Amino acid sequence: MRDSICKECPTHGIYYVSANDPDAECPRCREAKDLVYKNFLKSLASGDTEKSLDNYITISEKQKKTLEVCKAYVGSIVQRRNNREPLKFSLLFYGKPGTGKTHLALGILKALAKEGLSVESITWGELTCLDVPLQYKSVAEKTITRLKKVSVLVIDDLVRATMPTTKNMIFDIVDRRHRDQLATIAITNEYEKHFMKHDPRIISRLEEYGFFLPFMWEDYRKMRKQLNKKTG
Ligand SMILES: Nc1ncnc2c1ncn2[C@@H]1O[C@H](COP(=O)(O)OP(=O)(O)O)[C@@H](O)[C@H]1O
Ligand SMILES: [Mg+2]
Ligand SMILES: [Zn+2]
Repeated sequence: MRDSICKECPTHGIYYVSANDPDAECPRCREAKDLVYKNFLKSLASGDTEKSLDNYITISEKQKKTLEVCKAYVGSIVQRRNNREPLKFSLLFYGKPGTGKTHLALGILKALAKEGLSVESITWGELTCLDVPLQYKSVAEKTITRLKKVSVLVIDDLVRATMPTTKNMIFDIVDRRHRDQLATIAITNEYEKHFMKHDPRIISRLEEYGFFLPFMWEDYRKMRKQLNKKTG
C-alpha cells in the first residue's frame, strides 16, 4: 500500500498505518482498550463518570504535588504493564472528607482503563456485603476472585471491620493482591498516619511498595456550596 507503513503487533500481527502517523497503534489493540474503558465507565455511578485527573482543580501547592504524584503513578503503572513487570505499587490516600480522594482515585482508574488495564473500584459497603452466609457464598466468591485479580483495585474507604469474618475476607483480598504484586489504592478518612483503626496486616502490605498521601485541605463540597450560594 502506498503512503502506508507496515507494522507488527505482538498480539494481533501485521497492520498498516498512514505514513503521516507512523506511531499509530494497532487498531485491534486500540479497540480492545476502548472496550475496557467503556465498560469501566458503565460500572461507575452516574455522578462519578466526569471525575478525572484533568478536572481536579489545584489551588494549593500540596494539591498540585498530590495531582503530580497521581499522574506519575499512572505513567509508571502503564510503563510497568508495557514492560511486563509486576505492577506492584500501591497508594493510600488519607485525610479529611471532601478533599478529592475518591475523585483522584477514580481519575487514576479512568486513565489506566483508557490504556486497557483492568481496573475496579469498590466501596466499603459493597465489600462488606460480600461477607455472606455459606449458602450464598458462590455468587460472592466470583466477585471476590475478580477483586483479587484485577490489575488495579480501589478500596473506598477502608473502615475498621467489626466482624472477624469480614476482616479476614478483606485481608485475604489485599494479601492475595500483594503476593501477586498487583496495585491497590486504598482510601481512608483517618487523619493520622499511624492508621490505628485499620488492620495492621493490611497497612503493612500497602506500605511495602506504597506511597501514603495526606489530603488535609479544605472540604471541596463545602467550598462549592458556599460558592453556589454567592453566585446563585
Ligand atoms: N480539587 C477538586 N477539584 C474539583 N473537584 C473536586 C476537588 N476536590 C473535590 N472535588 C469534588 O468534590 C466532591 C467531593 O470529593 P470526593 O472525591 O468525594 O472527596 P473525598 O473522597 O475526599 O471525601 C466530588 O464531587 C469531587 O468531584
Ligand atoms: Mg470519598
Ligand atoms: Zn494489537
